[in-house]
Amino acid sequence: MSVLILGIESSCDDTSAAVLKDSFVLSNVIANQQVHEKYGGVVPELASRAHQQNIIPVVNTALQVANIDKNNLSAIAFTRGPGLLGSLLVGASFAKALSLTLNIPLIEVDHMQAHILAHFLQDDQNKKVPEFPFLCLTVSGGHTQIVKVTDYFEMEIIGKTIDDAAGEAFDKAAKIMSLPYPGGPMIDKFAKEGNPNAFKFSEPRIPDLDYSFSGLKTSILYFLRDQLKQDELFIEKNKFDLCASIQATIVNILMKKLLIASEQTGIKRVAIAGGVSANSGLRIAMENASNQFGWDIFIPKLNYSTDNAAMIAVAGYFKFLQGNFARQNQVPYARQSGR
Ligand code: KG4
Ligand code: ZN
Repeated sequence: MSVLILGIESSCDDTSAAVLKDSFVLSNVIANQQVHEKYGGVVPELASRAHQQNIIPVVNTALQVANIDKNNLSAIAFTRGPGLLGSLLVGASFAKALSLTLNIPLIEVDHMQAHILAHFLQDDQNKKVPEFPFLCLTVSGGHTQIVKVTDYFEMEIIGKTIDDAAGEAFDKAAKIMSLPYPGGPMIDKFAKEGNPNAFKFSEPRIPDLDYSFSGLKTSILYFLRDQLKQDELFIEKNKFDLCASIQATIVNILMKKLLIASEQTGIKRVAIAGGVSANSGLRIAMENASNQFGWDIFIPKLNYSTDNAAMIAVAGYFKFLQGNFARQNQVPYARQSGR
């Protein structure tokens, strides 16, 4: 018999609900919060409030689109962390209440594991899923990790950022250029019109498989400060080339370590996941690596790259099969290490 999972994601500024039949997506509804735009970043207090407003309509819509009665659900999966605590509490409390009301199991999901497990989602377009083991470069607004995945929930972080995440690097660079929040998609858009070799920014020298992005931010800041002294319209005049060069630098930094990771582990099945995996430059770099090094690559569809509840539900589905359920007294965690 098939399993029907309702997934709920509320870790940052997107309220999302999805219904899956086994690993097949019946619905995946995402409400973005526009309220943060004028502040140039996510305001945690406002995010929690917006989740409160959105969660019931979003869940109702997900059930309607899936054409599923809530009484037929098998279990409810929710994001337990990492993320903004106030935001997580909204999704967690809602999921707990609904699981009690419907008397069905509750499943807690780690947001970063879910980004990786998004590769196992199925929808109308038949998709190839990765075999184990594979490597996953997980790049989001809060994390940058190279993960060795040996089973659905056996994941070893073999490299990570020691300061900013790749998404933060995109967002901070965009902010320095006075581009609107969130900066990542904007840089991606403008980069398509520019020359990636127009400007050179410093790349970090960090040992092992770790990353660092804080130096890049400083390098962009100082470069622009100097240029603006000579021409106050420098950014406006060069915005396409600046975006293309910044994107190329970030992608280059990400790919270098991923390549070493593949060499060291001997694993040639390589995936990307998380919000930054939506980046067109990174996607092209993965295609190139596939051609050059014979990698078998896995790139998530755009709506499963950035935050979404379908990935939470698919992680929930695999936990459901294991009988791995959550207790009502389990609380959200802000950091991945805080479990
Ligand atoms: O995974 P995600 O949606 O949320 C977190 O878990 O953090 O990732 C959000 C991050 C933001 O930093 C955003 O700017 C970045 O992903 N992002 C992109 C693109 N789309 C989203 N960065 C570069 N290019 C994109 N197309
Ligand atoms: Zn995320």
